[in-house]
Amino acid sequence: MRGLISLAGGLLILSGCNPEEPGSTSEPVVFDSTPYVLESGHFPTPTLPEDNPLTEAGVVLGQMLFHEKRLSGDNTMACADCHRQHQNFSDASVLSIGIAGFEGSRHSMVLSNLAWHVHHNGTHGHGFLWDGRAATLRDQVLLPIQDELEMATTLEDVIAKLGALSKYRDQFVRAFDTEEVSAEGMAKALEQFLLTMVSNQSRYDRWLLGEGTLSTSEERGRILFFDEFDPFNPETSGADCAHCHSGLDFSSHQFVNNGLDSDSEMADIGYMLVTGDESDRGRFKVPSLRNVMESAPYMHDGRFTSMEEVLDHYDHGAVSSSSLDPMMEYNVENGLGLTEQDKLDLVAFLHTLTDADFLENPAFGNPH
Ligand code: HEC
Ligand code: HEC
Repeated sequence: MRGLISLAGGLLILSGCNPEEPGSTSEPVVFDSTPYVLESGHFPTPTLPEDNPLTEAGVVLGQMLFHEKRLSGDNTMACADCHRQHQNFSDASVLSIGIAGFEGSRHSMVLSNLAWHVHHNGTHGHGFLWDGRAATLRDQVLLPIQDELEMATTLEDVIAKLGALSKYRDQFVRAFDTEEVSAEGMAKALEQFLLTMVSNQSRYDRWLLGEGTLSTSEERGRILFFDEFDPFNPETSGADCAHCHSGLDFSSHQFVNNGLDSDSEMADIGYMLVTGDESDRGRFKVPSLRNVMESAPYMHDGRFTSMEEVLDHYDHGAVSSSSLDPMMEYNVENGLGLTEQDKLDLVAFLHTLTDADFLENPAFGNPH
C-alpha cells in the first residue's frame, strides 16, 4: 500500500507541480550532472571525448538505447541483438542479419575497451568498424539504425517513437537537461555507454597484477603468443600474435592484412574502401582478443567457426597479397610450425582472457 501511495505522489511531481516538494519520496526529474567515474583498473587513464563528459544519467540513457528494439523499423531489433553480452557483444551469425532477415556483408564486431581505441578525427590508422570508416563512436552509432540491411529506419521515426514515451523524455532531462529526444543526444548517450564497457578483470589480468597464477599450459601459450617468430628456427620460435594483438587490449587498433585472401579472391577490400589507397587493400581493424573464446565465429566475414580454424590459418593458411603484413609473409611459405600441443596451449592462454564480470555485469545488460 505504501508503495502505491508514494507512486501516486511521484506521478504528481512528474507532472510538474513542484519538484522540490518537501517530504516527497520519489526523485524529481531534473538535470543530473553527476559524473560517471570510469574504473580503468590497471589500464592507463583513457582520453575521453571532451565535448561529451560521461555522466551517470547519460550512461543509463545509453544503456536503455542499446537495448531498445524501437531503434529498428519494425521494433524487433536492438543493438544488443547483434552485440550480445554473453557472446562478447558479438553474435553467432556468420554475417549479420538485419530486421527483414537481410544478410549484411560483415560479421558483428566485439565491443569492449572502446575508450582505449584511439579516436582522433580522420587520423590515418584509427577509427571504428572493420574498415575504420567511422572516425568516432558518435559517428558510428547512428549508422546501423539507418542501414537498410540492419535496423532499417530513419532517425525521425526513432525520435518520434522514443519522444512519445515519458521514460525517454525523463531520461533526456536527467542526461541533457531537455525533454527533446534528438539524434545528437542519442549518439552522445550511446557513445557514453560504449565507453564504459571495460573488460580487465580476467584471470590474465590477475596474473599480471601478481594476484593469480597460470597453469603450465596457459603459461606456454602466453609465451608463444608474445614471443617473436623466428623463420630460421620455427620449432622453437614464438607465434608473435602480439605483433598485431598487442598491449593491454590485445589490439594495435591498426588496419592490417592478415593473409585471408589473395588479391583476386578478395571480396571485401576493407580499409581501402575508406582511404582509396591501393596499399590499404584487404586491411581490416585488428580486433581485441579479450573474451575471444566467447565470440565465434571469427574474422570480418565470420569465415572461421572455431579457434582451431583460426590457429590453422595463422599456422599454415595465410595467402599472399599485395598488402600482406610483412610479418605474415614469413609464414606464408613454411608456416609457423605450431605443434598440436602449441595450439592447445595457445587456446588455454586465450581462455585466460575471459572476464566473467564483464560478460555478466548487469550495468551492460538489458535495463528494460
Ligand atoms: C544487424 C546487426 C547489427 C546491429 C543491429 C548493430 N550492429 Fe554494431 N556492428 C555490426 C557489424 C556487422 C559491425 C561491423 C560493420 C562494418 O565493419 O561495416 C558492427 C560494428 C559496430 C561497432 C564498431 C566497433 C569497433 O571496434 O570498431 C560499434 C561501436 C557498434 N557496432 C555499435 C552498435 C550500436 C551502438 C548499435 C545500435 C545503435 C549497433 N551496433 C547495432 C552489426 C550490428
Ligand atoms: C599481422 C598482424 C596479425 C598477427 C600477427 C595476428 N593477427 Fe589475428 N588478426 C589480425 C587482423 C587484422 C584480424 C582481423 C582480420 C579480418 O577480419 O579481416 C585478426 C583477427 C583475429 C581473430 C578473430 C577475432 C574476431 O573478433 O573475429 C583471432 C581470434 C585472432 N586474430 C587471433 C590471432 C592469434 C592467436 C594470432 C597468433 C597466432 C594472431 N591473431 C596473429 C591481425 C593479426
